[in-house]
Amino acid sequence: MNDVPKRRTGGPTRLLIGGACAVLIAVSSVAIANLAHADLSGPPGTTLKAAAERSGRYFGMAMGADRLSDSGFQTIARREFDMLTAVNEMKPDATEPNQGQFNFTNGDRLYNWAVQNGMRVRGHTLAWHAQQPRFWGSLSGSALRTAMINHINGVLAHYKGKMFQWDVVNEAFAENGSRRSSNLQATGNDWIEAAFRAARAADPSTGLCYNDYNIENWTYAKTQGVYNMIKDFKSRGVPIDCVGLQTHFTGGSSLPGNFQTTLSSFAALGVDVVLTEVDVTNASASQYQGLTQACMNVPRCLGITTWGVRDSDSWRSSESPLLFDRNSNPKAAYTSVLNALNAASTTVPGTTTPTSGTPSTSRPPTSTPPTSAPPTSAPATSAPPTSTPVTGQSGACTATYRTVNSWGGGFQGEVIVANNGSSTLNGWTVRLTLASGQTLSQVWNGSNTGTSGAISVRNAEYNGSLGANASTNFGFLVSGSTNTAPSGISCTSP
Ligand code: G3I
Repeated sequence: MNDVPKRRTGGPTRLLIGGACAVLIAVSSVAIANLAHADLSGPPGTTLKAAAERSGRYFGMAMGADRLSDSGFQTIARREFDMLTAVNEMKPDATEPNQGQFNFTNGDRLYNWAVQNGMRVRGHTLAWHAQQPRFWGSLSGSALRTAMINHINGVLAHYKGKMFQWDVVNEAFAENGSRRSSNLQATGNDWIEAAFRAARAADPSTGLCYNDYNIENWTYAKTQGVYNMIKDFKSRGVPIDCVGLQTHFTGGSSLPGNFQTTLSSFAALGVDVVLTEVDVTNASASQYQGLTQACMNVPRCLGITTWGVRDSDSWRSSESPLLFDRNSNPKAAYTSVLNALNAASTTVPGTTTPTSGTPSTSRPPTSTPPTSAPPTSAPATSAPPTSTPVTGQSGACTATYRTVNSWGGGFQGEVIVANNGSSTLNGWTVRLTLASGQTLSQVWNGSNTGTSGAISVRNAEYNGSLGANASTNFGFLVSGSTNTAPSGISCTSP
C-alpha cells in the first residue's frame, strides 16, 4: 500500500468497487487528504496561480529546456504558474530516440525545476503522429503497436507516481471527425484504447488525457468525433480521466460562443477537462476572459495552461498570443484572466473540505504543495451537500437530484434522468422549485425555462432519446442567500 497516497481519487477507486470495501475507504480518504483546498471566500489572488488555486484549480505554462537558462522567463514562471508542461522534451522522439534506449535528461531537468519551484507537471505526450522516434518510421502493424506500448511502459515506469496527468494520445482526429490517418492508426482502430489501457496499467496514479486542437466548438465535427470516442470509452470501461482542449485561438480561429457547452458536455461524460495549450491571436483580452470564465463555470475544468509565457516564447510569436509581452510585462489579457479566475463561482469537486461522500471526480493527488499561502479562513460554512438524493417520478421517467458541491452563496446540482420503461423515451422535462432568493445561473446538458421559483429543464438536442433503462444527467449552478436544495422535483416525458 506504499503507493496508495499517490492514487487518483476516481479511476482506481472505481476499479476497486467490488473489491474490499475497507480498501476503498482507505484509498478515498487518503486521496482526499492529498487534494488541494479551495476557498472562494478568501481574498482575490494577485498572481495567476493564486487566483486559480482559490477554486482548487491550477494555472500552467509550457516550458522548453532552453528556458532553464533564461532568468527572465523563470522570474515570471515562478511567480505566476503552478503547473509545467514540457514543450518538446517528453515527446516520443525525445524520450526514446533509439528503440529501447530511453533518454530523460531534458525531461528530468524540467521536471526537477518544476518540483523545486512548487509546480506540478503535465506529461506531453506518449503517442502522436508527429515527433515520433525515427525507428517508428520503419515499423508497421503489430511491430509498431508493440513499440508504442513499450514506449508508454518505459516512459511511465520512469515517471511513475510523479505526474499530475499525461496526454496519452495527441491529435488523433481529422477535422471531419473521423480518425486522422497515420502509421499508428494503420495498426488498427483500437490503437488509442490500447495506449490508454497500457498507460493505466503502467502508472495508476496519473490522470490519462486525450488531447487535441479544434475541439473547442461544440458543433464542429471534430469535437463530436472526440466526444463520441470518449463516450464509447466510458461505456466500455476503457480507462480515460480527462480531455485536453489545446485552445489555440490563433491563426484564424477564435473563441466559439458555445465553448462552455463543449466543456460541460465533455465533463458530463465523467471526465475532467483541461485547457492545455492556450494562445490567442494578439492576446485578445475578451477571448482570454471568455475562455477562462467558461473553465471557471465548469466544475470539472481543472486548470488552464498557456503554450509559453511571453510572446517571445510562442511557437507563433508573430501573432503575440500570450499573456506577457517580449519585455515580460503583463498585457491587458493578463488582467482579464486574473479577474476571471478570481470571479470563479465553482470549485473543483473534491477540493473543498469534504462534508459527505467521496469526491465525484477523478484527479491525481497534489504531488507537491502549492507555494502560495494556504487559505487561512475557515472553509465556507454554507449548508453541506445533501447526501440523500431526492427523487421525483411521473410516469415513464425518474429524476433524481443531488447537490454535487456547495459554497457560500451557491451550489452545483445534478439531476439524473432515468427511463423506467421498456420502450425508448423521446424527450423529457424535469420540473423543480428553487427556494426563495435563489437564482439559476447556468444549466448544461439541458435547456431551462425560468431562473427562479418553479423552473423546468428540457433535454438537450443530444440526450433526449433514452432507451429502456437508460439514463442521462444535466447539471446546473444556483446562486443565492441559501443553499436549500430544490423541492418538488418531477419528470415527465411527452
Ligand atoms: O532543436 C532543433 C534545432 O536543433 C534545429 O536547429 C531547428 C531547425 O528547425 O529545429 C529545432 O527543433 C524544433 C523544435 O520545435 C524545438 O524548437 C523543431 O524543428 C520544431 O518542429 C519543433 O516544433 C515544436 C512543434 O510542437 C512540433 O510539432 C514546437 O516547438 C512545439 O511548441 C509544438 O508544440 C505543439 C504541441 O506539441 C501539440 N499541439 C500543437 C503545439 C504547437 O505546434
